[in-house]
Amino acid sequence: MSLLEIALPAGALALAAPMIKRRIDLSRAKHRSLAGHSRMAKRLARWLPGYAYEETEFFACDGAAPEVVARRRAAFEALAAGLASRHPKTLAMTAQAREGLADLQFTGRYRVPFQFSPIVSERLKVGAFVQSADGVTLTDLDGFRFHDLTGSYGVNVFGVDFYKACMAEGAARVQELGLVLGAYHPCVAGNIQRLREISGMDEVSFHMSGTEAVMQAVRLARFHTRKRHLVRFPGAYHGWWEDVQPGPGNPLPPRETYTLADMSERSLRVLRTRRDIACVLVNPLQALHTNRVPPADSALVDSGRQAHFDRAAYTAWLQRLREVCTERGIVLIFDEVFLGFRLAPGGAQEYFGVKADMVTYGKTLAGGYPVGVVCGRHALMQRFRADRPADLCLARGTFNAHPQVMGGMSVFLERLQTPEVQAVYDGQDERWNARARRFNETMEREGLPMRAANLHSIWTINYTEPSRYNWMLQYLLRWHGVALSWVGTGRLIFSLNFSDADFDAVQEKFVRAGRDMREQGWWAPVAGQSNRGIRRSILREVIATALGRRPGA
Ligand SMILES: Cc1ncc(COP(=O)(O)O)c(C=O)c1O
Repeated sequence: MSLLEIALPAGALALAAPMIKRRIDLSRAKHRSLAGHSRMAKRLARWLPGYAYEETEFFACDGAAPEVVARRRAAFEALAAGLASRHPKTLAMTAQAREGLADLQFTGRYRVPFQFSPIVSERLKVGAFVQSADGVTLTDLDGFRFHDLTGSYGVNVFGVDFYKACMAEGAARVQELGLVLGAYHPCVAGNIQRLREISGMDEVSFHMSGTEAVMQAVRLARFHTRKRHLVRFPGAYHGWWEDVQPGPGNPLPPRETYTLADMSERSLRVLRTRRDIACVLVNPLQALHTNRVPPADSALVDSGRQAHFDRAAYTAWLQRLREVCTERGIVLIFDEVFLGFRLAPGGAQEYFGVKADMVTYGKTLAGGYPVGVVCGRHALMQRFRADRPADLCLARGTFNAHPQVMGGMSVFLERLQTPEVQAVYDGQDERWNARARRFNETMEREGLPMRAANLHSIWTINYTEPSRYNWMLQYLLRWHGVALSWVGTGRLIFSLNFSDADFDAVQEKFVRAGRDMREQGWWAPVAGQSNRGIRRSILREVIATALGRRPGA
């Protein structure tokens, strides 16, 4: 063998070594869980065979004693009958709408783990219509009032009456202009000014939804850095645009998205060493369930849900992230669509004391109207290059800066500056932490196996004893008058106008629903049951279904 023949492969290897190392670093920076392995999760989701529990198994899948099973069955039937007779009009309209509304069919199917879903959605009907809202309550078509913990997907920060006023006043403000697009209503100038002050950024752009705002922020980051990849963290929701949803839920997984472990040194190393990363997207809500998908009761197959917020640790992580992004010229984007204006008037940037390069807002910002906003430094917000006139970053939208949306936003931002609204923020963190402590002490005293984890006014219920039936709690809460969104006890969203008395009333409803859970047998202890045992038994069911050995497939 000639010297050249020996030297060539060795040289190639030496050249490839850094690339291989970077690839290995990337793999090691993924979180061990499925949430950290989007492609694998997606493949698994495609493979996972569907099956459903028939009547007997539905009530006895944990092997509970016959007496417990009988109690569960009787309670389930009584609850179904009770809901049907208490909400006839609401349920009739829901049934009618459901036929033609794909969204309702989707949410109806994903309220509980899929094995239970057919029987639950057929018998335990839940209304999707409300006629009015005020204070901290919603009233359905039958005149029944619920405490509202849906929070309108996070839009409702200051209470429904606040938004009614913003919407009415905002609409009146732009009435004379009506529908004129392209030219702006004068209130837009004020909105720009206020958003610049709040975000500490130079420029803003208006969009119709949070999803669009995120798309635009990432597109701009790619345009200006001339790099392709975006980094996101496991489980973080940034809307339903392809590139921010690499896992299940998106038919076409993106190629240019890295999902790296949250709060991890290895992820920082990847950011420090790779040259293809345009931006890092942070949804600060992930601080409550780091490296996990957002909790929903459809995934509540056991009691393994764990949510926990450590403000100091998350702050330290954001600071590190900031440093690395600055060092490497990576655009740090805070996606504050959900949390913006809730934690502090200056949003998550103010709350965590860390400044991003771009911030996206949405939800609450237009006082109840649909909106998305990007705020960023001048150099990042530019959509063209002065020296390359054909090299653009195109982003338009017919309804961007729609007069009514801008009117609602101007009222919202004006009110935000008033001493009354500024005062609302005072002591909220302490208030919600104290309420969560009180809630947990009460549940402990009552011997009820549920505990709240909270980030400010956003709560998740964790469960402390293994059970296959925790998802029933959302229906019993409903029975006692608590409205939850379709993700159930995974996300409770309180508006900041909940008084102590309102909160106590909600807590009391949780106690009553919890007692029902116990009495009706849903939380009946089953000898030898553990979360791991539950997951194993589900795995056995799945495998049997895949092999065609299970009825109900
Ligand atoms: C953090 C975050 N980003 C983006 C979005 C998408 O916003 P929209 O639903 O307005 O498209 C959401 C929605 O929940 C969100 O929570």
